[in-house]
Amino acid sequence: MGDILTIEGLTLATKRDVLVRDLSFRIAEGERFGLIGESGSGKSLTSLAITGLLPPTIRASGRITLAGQEITGAPERRLCGLRGAAVATIFQEPLTALDPLMRLGKQIALPVRRRLLREGQDAGRAAVAREVRALIDQVRLPDPDRLIRAYPHEVSGGQRQRVAIAMALACRPRLLIADEPTTALDVTTQAEIVTLLTGLVQAHGIALLFISHDLAVVGQVAERVLVLRGGEAVETGPAAKVLTAPRAPYSRDLITAARRFDTALEGRP
Ligand SMILES: Nc1ncnc2c1ncn2[C@@H]1O[C@H](COP(=O)(O)OP(=O)(O)OP(=O)(O)O)[C@@H](O)[C@H]1O
Ligand SMILES: [Mg+2]
Repeated sequence: MGDILTIEGLTLATKRDVLVRDLSFRIAEGERFGLIGESGSGKSLTSLAITGLLPPTIRASGRITLAGQEITGAPERRLCGLRGAAVATIFQEPLTALDPLMRLGKQIALPVRRRLLREGQDAGRAAVAREVRALIDQVRLPDPDRLIRAYPHEVSGGQRQRVAIAMALACRPRLLIADEPTTALDVTTQAEIVTLLTGLVQAHGIALLFISHDLAVVGQVAERVLVLRGGEAVETGPAAKVLTAPRAPYSRDLITAARRFDTALEGRP
């Protein structure tokens, strides 16, 4: 199968600093890819570059091709066409993606309607409502009648993240970017969301770019990973290999630190 995303020699810089340097990787259609790195290593900037949402103060050079289209230097019109159809993003804090003053059912309905129109299908009230119900079901949200009428602040953090996943799925993207999607949640909810997300992208054949500093989580999700440090790739390869037998000293340090953290949590010496 072909690649949904290729990044070649991506460099992101402000007038003063180089934030991401000469980064290259590719994601095949339907593949689950993990981007790992400590805070400030350039993970979110890379994801913003892919969706063409970099702040204006940051210049990009190199080449990003998404669904066969060049992103770097593309006009906003073309990028708009790609968002949703080719790529959708789930963020760390679902509240940032949700409108606090709009009922959740309506928020899910918006991308559903946009996609039905895009595909030239029936986008009438009944068709949209049916699809909204189906999505709520897929992300296993309880009590759909209440949920549809609820505002974001009236449901839990985990439920808000499920709504955000439903909105992303509503677009039927070919690539889903999840930027630290579970960091704001407790450990049990984290595990549930990760299992749900992995199952859904597999079921729909959607490629996943999963961004996290949490190696245990990335190991559960990704088939291949890239380790980023200070804006540069230090290692890339199959997840099982990089996470169990890292070659780069920095990857080894990350893994040792994660193990130490796990041990501390379990209260063992
Ligand atoms: N608009 C900006 N202008 C200048 N520098 C920025 C801007 N946005 C981010 N940076 C810097 O770029 C670097 C990478 O930031 P980025 O947000 O990609 O990190 P990250 O890997 O996502 O970290 P985290 O795990 O904390 O989310 C950081 O040093 C950050 O301070
Ligand atoms: Mg980030």
